[in-house]
Parts: sequence; structure tokens; C-alpha cells
Amino acid sequence: MSAPAVLPDPARIEQRKAEVIRLWGDWTAHNIHLKDGIYTIGPDREADKLRRIVQIVSDLSSKPIERLRVLDLGALEGGYAVELARRGAQVVAIEGRRANLEKILFVKDVLGLQNLQAVQDDVRNLQKLNLGSFDVILCLGLLYHLDFDGVISLCRQIFDSCDRMALFDTYVGIGNLQRFEANGKEYWGRVVREHLPQSSMEERLADKWASLDNTESLWITRNSLYNLLGDLGFTSAYECHLPTEVDKLADRLTFVAIKGTPQKLLAMPRTNEDPMGRLPKYSTTRISHKQRLLPIMQERATNLVPISWRRSLKGLMRRKDTKPR
Ligand SMILES: C[S@@+](CC[C@H](N)C(=O)[O-])C[C@H]1O[C@@H](n2cnc3c(N)ncnc32)[C@H](O)[C@@H]1O
Repeated sequence: MSAPAVLPDPARIEQRKAEVIRLWGDWTAHNIHLKDGIYTIGPDREADKLRRIVQIVSDLSSKPIERLRVLDLGALEGGYAVELARRGAQVVAIEGRRANLEKILFVKDVLGLQNLQAVQDDVRNLQKLNLGSFDVILCLGLLYHLDFDGVISLCRQIFDSCDRMALFDTYVGIGNLQRFEANGKEYWGRVVREHLPQSSMEERLADKWASLDNTESLWITRNSLYNLLGDLGFTSAYECHLPTEVDKLADRLTFVAIKGTPQKLLAMPRTNEDPMGRLPKYSTTRISHKQRLLPIMQERATNLVPISWRRSLKGLMRRKDTKPR
């Protein structure tokens, strides 16, 4: 754990917060308790996604939080980075917009978080930044702000920089899908507008949650994201539903990808030579026959026939079957 900071007095925090807001605008999303009744936004905000992310990190990482090195990509106002740094992790937060970064720096300073490093840069430069490797990489609310090349290249850089686990919280494409190819592999996704093509860089940066420059983004499909994670070398990947996020939209999912050791099967060694199957463009909609309409109707119809009739009918059928021909 980092040494407890001596926090500035509340009046001073309020004064400095007002100054940050005057220069860089209001906090837009990340609510962080600073001291006493002072929050970056206010006391009555929900934090379901933060609860989910922190629980996943605690449950699935190979070390206690205070021994983790964490990278938070597209950190916005630093809510996730600050939470994990407060718990003692060594955290690097990358954020492309100065207006957001200044909010992280303010909170870091108020809370005295020496173990939080906040960098203003484009996440697509991750490799060039030479930040070393991380136990946990957070890619939350970010992937769907990149175009196809950006998605492929960032996921590759995440894999390369990851020692154990990457978390993706992202919209996934549905309907009106387009086909893309990278390294001879097929992926599907939906192209979504980010900024008007004629908008200036200033206008693009003013939209504090959006892509930095690309006017369109690729919302990769759920199946293609799994394929991509597998293609890169992650050994398993999961979706998280608990802790719950009750109001989460159906096309927004939380994925956990683990970089583990590929396992060889002993019972079926031949399988080890086969490449793992790729998920198709659309998932199957086939379901168990027990839940299909026709078998259910057949079962209901059977139940209408009295049991004694059913027995005699069965007896008749059996006799017919065993009769010598
Ligand atoms: C929708 S917000 C999500 C923020 C936060 N990770 C969360 O889950 O709440 C997207 C953030 O990513 C940042 N961002 C978008 N594209 C980026 C890029 N190429 N490089 C760095 N930051 C980027 C935006 O400035 C914004 O802060």
C-alpha cells in the first residue's frame, strides 16, 4: 500500500477543484471521493462498472492488488486508475485529451498518489511509449473508438504488453456488418460515425469521450473479438455478468482475456494438432430440442392421452416390433 497522504484541507481542495473546472470543464463521468463530503461530481452516483472491474481484478489476477502493475488505456478522468492506485497498485494511465488528463493529475495530487503515472498520449502509440509489461491492462470504453486497423493494432499491443489479464468493456457490432481482413483472418464489425468528416481537430477534441481523430470507428462483433483474442494468443476469454450492471445495454459487454499457458490434451492427443475452431459471423440460434416448440407440443399432446391407453399402445407397438418376420 502507498503511504497515506496528508490531504490538503477541504476549503483548499474545493478551491483547486473550482479552478480545474474553470480551465478544463466539469467532470463528465468519473466520480471520485476526495475528502469529507467532497467528490469530483457528487455523492449520489452509481458505480456499478467500477465495482465490476475492481472485483474482476481482485478475483482473477495472479497477485494481490497492491502487487499489481496496471495500465489504464483511455483513462478519461482516471476513475479506474485512481481506485486501483489507492489500493496500492502501480498504475499508468494513458489519456489522449489534455482536458481529461488535467482532472487525473488534480486527483492524483489531492490524494497524494505517487504510484499513479498519468501520460497524455495516443493509445495507438503504446509500443513506442516503452512502458514495460503489466499484470492487468484495462481497455474500457475505448476499443469502439478506433477504426479497424486501430482495433487490430491496439489489441496486438495489449497482448504484447500483458503479463496476465486484459479487460475490455466495449460496444459490439450487430446488424449491418462489414467484413474486414487482417493477417489473412476474417473479422466482422459495424462502422459507426464518431465525428463529422468536415469537423476541425478542435471540435473533435471538444467531444471528451470520443475518438481522438478518426471520423469513423469499428464496433467489432462479439464473435470476431473472441476470434481476435484467440488469434493474438490469449489462452481463454470470458464475459462478466456478475457483479451486475443492471442497466447495461445489450450490445455493451465486459470481456476478460487471460494470457495463460496453452494446455495439451492427454486423452485426445490428436486434438492438439488441430487449430481451434473460429466462431462464425453469427452465433448459432439452435437450441436444445427440449425447448423447441414441436417436441413441447408433442409432449403436451401425449399427456392428454390417458395413461392406461398409452400403456396398451406401447405394449402393442412392442409386440409388433418383436414379431418374427
Ligand atoms: C468513452 S471514454 C471511456 C473512458 C474510461 N476508460 C471509462 O471506461 O469510463 C473514452 C476515453 O478514451 C479516450 N481516447 C479515445 N481515443 C483515444 C486514443 N486514441 N488515445 C488515447 N485516448 C483516447 C477519450 O479521450 C476518452 O477519455
